[in-house]
Amino acid sequence: MSQLTDLPAWKALWDHFEAAKDVHMRDLFANDPERAERYSLEVDGLFLDYSKNRLADDTLALLMELAHQVGLPAKIKAMFKGEKLNTTEQRAVLHVALRNRTNAPIKVDGEDVMPKVNAVLERMGRFAHAVRSGEWLGYTNQPITDIVSIGIGGSDLGPLMVCSALKPYGHPRLNMHFVSNVDGAQLKETLKKVHAETTLFVVESKTFTTQETLTNAITAREWFLSRARDEKAVAKHFVAVSTNKKAVGDFGIDPANMFEFWDWVGGRYSLWSAIGLPIMLYLGEENFSELLNGAHIMDQHFRNAPLEANMPVLLAMIGVWYINFYGGGSHVIAPYDQYLHRLPAFIQQLDMESNGKQVMLDGSPVDFETAPIIWGETGINGQHAFFQLLHQGTHISPIDLIASLENRSSLPGHHEILLANVFAQAEAFMRGKTADEVRVELAEQGLTGEALERLVPHKVFGGNRPTNTLLMTRLDPRNLGALIALYEHKIFVQGVIWHINSFDQWGVELGKQLAKTIHAELTGKLVDAPHDSSTSRLIQLYRQANGR
Ligand code: F6P
Repeated sequence: MSQLTDLPAWKALWDHFEAAKDVHMRDLFANDPERAERYSLEVDGLFLDYSKNRLADDTLALLMELAHQVGLPAKIKAMFKGEKLNTTEQRAVLHVALRNRTNAPIKVDGEDVMPKVNAVLERMGRFAHAVRSGEWLGYTNQPITDIVSIGIGGSDLGPLMVCSALKPYGHPRLNMHFVSNVDGAQLKETLKKVHAETTLFVVESKTFTTQETLTNAITAREWFLSRARDEKAVAKHFVAVSTNKKAVGDFGIDPANMFEFWDWVGGRYSLWSAIGLPIMLYLGEENFSELLNGAHIMDQHFRNAPLEANMPVLLAMIGVWYINFYGGGSHVIAPYDQYLHRLPAFIQQLDMESNGKQVMLDGSPVDFETAPIIWGETGINGQHAFFQLLHQGTHISPIDLIASLENRSSLPGHHEILLANVFAQAEAFMRGKTADEVRVELAEQGLTGEALERLVPHKVFGGNRPTNTLLMTRLDPRNLGALIALYEHKIFVQGVIWHINSFDQWGVELGKQLAKTIHAELTGKLVDAPHDSSTSRLIQLYRQANGR
């Protein structure tokens, strides 16, 4: 038995689950007219309605008791203080320092990190201003029109998601491109759209050793040099973002063109750092500051609000309730906003790379589920694709429905249809439709007898399917900053509950390691490394197809 499953609150939650698991939300709403009011809260421009979940006051009290018993308040303090919570890499976890708008000192190994955070932000601001104003000129003295960000994982998804989400705030002269895939198709198609004279490449890599990113960056530089025909021109068209100055220099980017960040910023938590340079270039310094401000507001809320009125804690503990007690190991992110179409992919990395772990901090195996499988799509498209399963399938999969109340950029009439669907889905998931309701409906359509009864079971919706509804006043930099920070902290809380390290990612290493050997075999530098018969045969098939 692990520390967690031995806790009195954990055991009490199991007893409670046995008694409450079949209670229908319809009854919970009927018995408590204040439920929506009591089970919702607002932080700045972000409103959360968590009333359509399978829980009551006693459930929430036990979940909060569990959070206390695992020592969550102390862990929150420890993160903000810069303690080395990433124990396998001996690193602090300080994305909160990157948006610490009060500028109060935060120390790592006795050194206040704020002066260097501010210095990099200022450099980014100066550079972004030069590019946006047209002062920064390419090798033929033309202003930059296209920015190609080259990175992968946390060095891609954050900037990509934010730039897509805030497109209406983007600089009208700048076109943003993101290249992450080592499949040459992505870079090739991007290069078709841009001109060397007016393109700025931002090479983004925390380690500056990631094969996909370096391969794409090398090819991009070759493409650029084949046009500019002057090594000196590279400095006007290539900048790097990294923690690894030496590797940037070795690659051939002048360290004067490098924007730094630090090992206490996790890759998937790095969009607030210099990794956010494409965001600042596109949106400008002021909007980038607003993004940081929004995240800071959520940080303050997370740090100071009591657990039972704390938005990230509530979302996390409700998640624990489904994952660990109902066995609902999947969670859907459904933004009802076209600009947020990359949010599911972003949160997928954030959550699954952080909490997809099988051992606890002390190395012992978990005896409970950890991170859910995060998936999703824009909600309205999902409705016409996978919502069937969510309504009538056999899985319990909580859903976050995310939308904005105001949408000034939408075409007339569209936003009301969109929001009607958000609210209708949340209602449908909660209420469902009983057999008697189906019978009445079918009778109204003129069906009777056996023809009617045959259809009834197919048209019944069990309901009682959980949703959280997250509404922003509007999708702007500040609210988006708060929304992202909300998910970051939710994931942190779940990691604390499960006693796991949310800030390493050893699980991505084995494949990288094996790919090195296999790459050598595919390129003929190595023959017949030992593999299982399946892997050997796949390698052989490749060789045959490519005449090697
Ligand atoms: O996929 C593993 C990973 O290490 C991610 O955590 C990270 O965001 C990504 O690769 C990119 O790494 P880097 O920024 O070092 O290129």
